[in-house]
Amino acid sequence: MNLPAAPRINPSLLAADFVNMQADLARIATADFAHVDVMDNHFVPNLTFGPQMVARIQETSPVPLDVHLMIDDPDRWAPEYAELGAASVTFHLEAAVEPVALARRLREIGARAGIAIKPGTAGEALYEILDEFDQILVMTVEPGFGGQSFMPETMPKLQALVAEARRRGSNAWFEVDGGISDDTIALAAAAGADTFVAGSAVYGADSVEAAIAGLRERARAASLES
Ligand code: DX5
Ligand code: ZN
Repeated sequence: MNLPAAPRINPSLLAADFVNMQADLARIATADFAHVDVMDNHFVPNLTFGPQMVARIQETSPVPLDVHLMIDDPDRWAPEYAELGAASVTFHLEAAVEPVALARRLREIGARAGIAIKPGTAGEALYEILDEFDQILVMTVEPGFGGQSFMPETMPKLQALVAEARRRGSNAWFEVDGGISDDTIALAAAAGADTFVAGSAVYGADSVEAAIAGLRERARAASLES
């Protein structure tokens, strides 16, 4: 697959209309990936959907899927999402028993392997395993719900992780998720993020296409400046 260049804008389907998913997928054709939040009501209090729904989204989406698993026991469930064709599958470090073995399994199936950390998890926890991953997701809100406020205190952790990854020769993508908007995207881009999840900022806009283009432009300008 030809991978889209940075900055990548990944609208979160959590902010889409769940009973008009086909139409809401068609609206994000100019995005880079569709961000799919899988929640199990255990790892996070909220509940969304599972592999059957994601398989239909995969068949319907105009752009590849960026699956974000906020679930317990990803060691057991994550490979299923890679097998249904998701371009990337990201699981939480806090939930995984054997993150390295799981990352290898995901890559073997053909997906990009991603790892996510919550705002309270130290970035150092990832340093030794950075090269096992294609993308690192630094949560900029507590996972579970859309529409929360961006937490700027997560930016030093992101910046340090990017520096450590480059020092180790890793080309991993750095993704931020939560509260990304026209007002906050520049901060994250300046701290080294190259992949941006946005739910409310995209689906809550009058023009979804203009919102995607605007976010991309702001991220590009901020990363050039930094
Ligand atoms: C939160 C999810 C996010 C969420 C972001 O746990 O992982 O992907 O949809 O929504 P906004 O952009 O509205 O903060
Ligand atoms: Zn997410």
